[in-house]
Amino acid sequence: MKIIIEKDYDGLSKKTAEIIKEEINRKPNLILGLATGSTPVGTYEELIKMHKEENLDFSKVTTFNLDEYIGLSPEHPNSYHIYMEENLFNHINIEKENTHVPNGEAEDIEEYCKNYDKGIEELGGIDLQILGIGENGHIAFNEPAEELTLGTHVTGLTESTINANSRFFDSIEEVPKTAITMGLGSIMKAKKIILLASGKNKAQVIKELLKEEYTTTSIPATMLLLHPDVTVILDEEAASKHNE
Ligand code: PGA
Repeated sequence: MKIIIEKDYDGLSKKTAEIIKEEINRKPNLILGLATGSTPVGTYEELIKMHKEENLDFSKVTTFNLDEYIGLSPEHPNSYHIYMEENLFNHINIEKENTHVPNGEAEDIEEYCKNYDKGIEELGGIDLQILGIGENGHIAFNEPAEELTLGTHVTGLTESTINANSRFFDSIEEVPKTAITMGLGSIMKAKKIILLASGKNKAQVIKELLKEEYTTTSIPATMLLLHPDVTVILDEEAASKHNE
């Protein structure tokens, strides 16, 4: 695992966008795995700037998002569809048909999940996957559990995640209790992975991860220790308990 520690959130965002830019320049038809949440917002802002100021070209890029709430329509203001449109897609020259966010309203959801993974495989797999991490160690919505599912699937959200995500909703009751998420297998098949963490509230889980002593399904992110090409990009606050 390669570890990069930037001074602050701004540095983390710039560094991450630089790596994504290099990957797009290396392979213009990059298959890019994207995350939502607070952490990648600054990275997306940097990518928009690079598109506007340096002509970073997304016209051949394909994206697959990690997850979506079950029961929220793609037009719902808290859906990850809207998040992606507002934070990135509407501001760059990506073809809408090349962007994929799981459909939380799919009728035959099991079939839909299988096809989501198939769609990724048919394009040759994800070249670069961006990940956030939950305070409880989840990646995407793969929550701590005795077993972790490999493929894209429907999952319940833990109380910790519902609490954390309630900041985006008017009340905690409005936070969906289930979601569709790429599984650990889908994520681990990505050729290159960048995991981002910012802020003091991530310091404890990052400390556990960077011990590199064990993998455990109770901290799903530790599965990444088995992957050959993972870069962890932190700000100083998230790194503050590492080397303690
Ligand atoms: P955050 O979420 O970026 O909003 O902290 C990360 C996650 O829960 O995976």
